[in-house]
Amino acid sequence: MKIKKIHLINFRNYINEEINFSDNVSLIYGENAQGKTNIVEALYLFSTGKSHRTNNTNELVRHGESYFSIMLEFEDNNYLQSMEIKYEKGNRKRLFINEVKKDRLSDILGVIPSVLFSPESLSCIKGSPGERRKIIDIVLCQVSKKYLYNLQKYNRIVKNKNVLLKKIKNNKQYSSQLDVWNESQAKTGTVIIEERRSLILSLEKRMKRLMHGISDGKEDVKVRYRSLYEENKSIYENFLNLVSENKNREIEQEISLFGPHRDEIEILLNNQSSRLYCSQGQQRSLALSLSIAIMEEIEERTGKIPILLLDDVMSELDEKRRNYLYELIGNNQAVITSTDKMHFKTANDDKVSYIEIKNGTVVSYTNE
Ligand SMILES: Nc1ncnc2c1ncn2[C@@H]1O[C@H](COP(=O)(O)OP(=O)(O)O)[C@@H](O)[C@H]1O
Ligand SMILES: [Mg+2]
Repeated sequence: MKIKKIHLINFRNYINEEINFSDNVSLIYGENAQGKTNIVEALYLFSTGKSHRTNNTNELVRHGESYFSIMLEFEDNNYLQSMEIKYEKGNRKRLFINEVKKDRLSDILGVIPSVLFSPESLSCIKGSPGERRKIIDIVLCQVSKKYLYNLQKYNRIVKNKNVLLKKIKNNKQYSSQLDVWNESQAKTGTVIIEERRSLILSLEKRMKRLMHGISDGKEDVKVRYRSLYEENKSIYENFLNLVSENKNREIEQEISLFGPHRDEIEILLNNQSSRLYCSQGQQRSLALSLSIAIMEEIEERTGKIPILLLDDVMSELDEKRRNYLYELIGNNQAVITSTDKMHFKTANDDKVSYIEIKNGTVVSYTNE
């Protein structure tokens, strides 16, 4: 699978612009605030259905306009194919694959898998548990429709259960309904916990190997998943017991206190919490090894090599870590942004294209 071309209409600072990508490395360069990240954002939208910068889709519409439309041409199984996302303010995003309207935006997941590494990726190390859960969820939703289905269902269950908890607090006659919700919460939550657990175990193995390489064997990584499972016990039983035993507490606080929406994923470096004790350099290495581990995982699970999106990170990486990335990219596809036109040495130098962006317009394409 290769992306070929993106066409942006009224998207962020783009009026009507096409950008062609190289089969290998596309380096998008230009000064600050010219629209480099906006291109990455559009590509990210095509792989996840969401922006990585905002939950408010209206922000993506060019100021003064009422809609945006973005189109991606890609090649898969030797066929040229297309995807289109159209959005009018006040409506939902609409998705078209090969010009056929899809019922659900989530049909986009898994078509063009990608992995994004940006300055914000450091938040996966330093940020809240919620940010790490989100990263794990994005990976799982790209590789498994079953996971997506269960995650959406679980979120609905927790929302409805919270409404019920509030009702019960005010009027005890509703208590009889709680058991049903607890059972479905435990059932759906179990699927999520199992999937997360197996992904995290596998990512841990990969990160261990990668960090070993980046740090000359000095750094040891562990990824701890704290959730509702105990060795040799059924997750479902455990979950159901916990919510049953704590009914009164949940009613009192009017909120679901247990389950995967509260999971903690902790990354340890040399047995210490990386969130608390990591240097900048170690954080960067960890974030990088996590991104690479995710790429390997997606490839293994889907057979598709994800597109690597590197937004504004090259200048922050030292020679050694950069070389690591070049090797990783190999013949695969990467879209890289940078304020400087930096030169690439890849397996196929002739397959690197340099794209200069100025004020939402492509001003030049070169191959050197
Ligand atoms: N909805 C929008 N309409 C018009 N311009 C926008 C919109 N959203 C962002 N921009 C403009 O896009 C530019 C930032 O683009 P970005 O891709 O983040 O820059 P960079 O090249 O630094 O990565 C800024 O000039 C900003 O004003
Ligand atoms: Mg940027």
